[in-house]
Amino acid sequence: MTNSDDPRARIEALQQQIEKHNEAYYLHDDPLIPDAEYDRLFSELQQLEAAHPELRRDDSPTQRVGGSPLDKFQSVQHLLPMLSLDNVFDEDGLRAFDKRIRERLNTTDSIVYVAEPKLDGLAISVLYEQGSLTRAATRGDGETGEDVTENVRTIHSVPLRLKGDNIPERVEIRGEIYMPKNGFERLNQQQRERGLKTFVNPRNAAAGSLRQLDSKLTAKRPLAMFCYGIGELVGIERPESHTASMQLIENWGGQVCPLNQRIAGIDDCFAFIDSLQNQRAELGYEIDGAVFKVNDLGLQERLGFVSRAPRWAVAYKFPAQEEMTVVEAIEVQVGRTGAITPVARLTPVFVGGVTVSNATLHNEDEIRRKDVRVGDSVIIRRAGDVIPEVVKVITDKRPADAQIFEMPEHCPVCGADVEREPGEAVSRCSGGLFCEAQRKEALKHFASRKAMDIDGLGDKIVEQLVDEGLVHDPADLFSLTHAELTALERMGSKSADNLLQALDNARETRFQRFLFALGIREVGEATARALSLHFSSLDALMQAESSALQEIEDIGPVVAHHIETFFQQSENRMVIQRLLDAGIHWPDEAPAWQDSELSGKTLVLTGTMDELSRSEAKEKLLALGAKVAGSVSGKTDYLVAGRDAGSKLTKAEKLGVSVVDESQLLKWLGRESK
Ligand code: IVH
Repeated sequence: MTNSDDPRARIEALQQQIEKHNEAYYLHDDPLIPDAEYDRLFSELQQLEAAHPELRRDDSPTQRVGGSPLDKFQSVQHLLPMLSLDNVFDEDGLRAFDKRIRERLNTTDSIVYVAEPKLDGLAISVLYEQGSLTRAATRGDGETGEDVTENVRTIHSVPLRLKGDNIPERVEIRGEIYMPKNGFERLNQQQRERGLKTFVNPRNAAAGSLRQLDSKLTAKRPLAMFCYGIGELVGIERPESHTASMQLIENWGGQVCPLNQRIAGIDDCFAFIDSLQNQRAELGYEIDGAVFKVNDLGLQERLGFVSRAPRWAVAYKFPAQEEMTVVEAIEVQVGRTGAITPVARLTPVFVGGVTVSNATLHNEDEIRRKDVRVGDSVIIRRAGDVIPEVVKVITDKRPADAQIFEMPEHCPVCGADVEREPGEAVSRCSGGLFCEAQRKEALKHFASRKAMDIDGLGDKIVEQLVDEGLVHDPADLFSLTHAELTALERMGSKSADNLLQALDNARETRFQRFLFALGIREVGEATARALSLHFSSLDALMQAESSALQEIEDIGPVVAHHIETFFQQSENRMVIQRLLDAGIHWPDEAPAWQDSELSGKTLVLTGTMDELSRSEAKEKLLALGAKVAGSVSGKTDYLVAGRDAGSKLTKAEKLGVSVVDESQLLKWLGRESK
């Protein structure tokens, strides 16, 4: 008898195939078959199960799409309580933890720990009986949680059936349900498009999604799970260490965070924390600290618990990235292209490790959408080096006299009309280079590191030069004299010499830097580079029409229009001529990339490099005709992994992408490592 005659065997085979494809698609981002083929398998299984309901199992992949809505969640008594962790916030706290452990264990040896990221989601307990998922429950108060089985079934990284042959009678796997950052962004985008409320952060979005009474809704949310412990275990021997438990879970098909590390001694804990902090912004999910656990389960047992927390583990918390404060005023700033950006002036608050007193509000629509008013209490977020943002207003705390923001009709700096073109989110000062604010910003941009790289020409000096009427446009910089400079406040003779020298050095530049420095709207580094490669001379570019510009990859009609109009304007042409007259020049660059082995290849950079910064490496690779992408995928040719490379390295290894180190990179760039 063949499979197709025996529905039971066919159902079983389909379930296994579909789970394999789910894993490849959802967990490894690497589908093995086209979507249409997957859909056919899936609907065949659905039909067979509908025709033979007695053969439908709760752990069939068709059950991941959600079932009928519930009235309320049932409560679940945890068999072993779900504990929490004691927190420490600094080095002393962590050293004290390690010392307590060694004292209790009466040893001076280094303790072997497992270091893990503290995942910022919500704790979950998932019960498997005879290898099938039978119940999932939230932590609740640690004793009693809520039964969210139907919802957890919809999460693709949670196995419905454990794999392998070492399957216990009962096992309770514990871990964290989280929402990946990209899924969170997409969800909020959808919510906005549908006029629905957005979520403040991925954790709230994960919690809201998991606590849906209608599991069909949960099924549409991008949730995932990392496992970090085993609760109840019946029928097989308990492993001897935490690492062995994690290995078991992985063998069963569960996901364990790839950043977890077995380490020895307290000093390595700090190294782990440093490396985690370096990778934090790049990770695909939110973390809010590190967790350290004694690896040996025998020692864990000896150490035991105090009240609700184990003595054998501790959470090292990073400084909070979100805090509450008050909007004292909303002011506007005028940027280089005249864009008017509203900025919230805040009661200073310590967040993400620094004191923050301003947060960008982006534009008028954003203020309306978030309904931020002067006097409001707001949640501020500062993640990594990203500009602080207002995440949400706490409307309950709104004072009666809170002021609604009005976009000024005139530029606060030059008095010109403020205009907002239909379909644009940004309001702009129409004063152009007559507006002092725009002039200052244009000059700061011109001097900046990635543009003309004029050392010592910082923001403060630019402002003084414009305020004193010494400089109107970039060309004026090159006729500044020693006497003019030393007349400025806080400018000594030596600094003036240095600045003049830096200006002199800047005369020799590269075509792409010069183009970027001009500050043409929408022409960033990449576009400037594309232009410099396409046009053999500045003259040719200046005469190019929009249609010729659009022949270049990534240049569309809008950017082409900005470029064309920029070069048509006589003031701009004059400034350019004066810059050339002042001696600005660049070498004729033969397109070096044409015969480079990296030409056309896609690379991803990750980890810390010793001899050059990542942005420097990127610039050099681009010059060789390579593409530099932000994330690893099947299209990546090489991953360049520096020190402490994390999830990107793991992914590259999984996908079989070639991984090279910094010394290979230096070779490609024609530099030998020191
Ligand atoms: S272990 C007895 N490991 O932190 C130890 N928890 O404050 C129980 N969490 O409720 C937890 N990442 O939701 C552990 N790698 C990790 C974790 C982690 C995040 C959460 C978990 C728990 C809370 C404890």
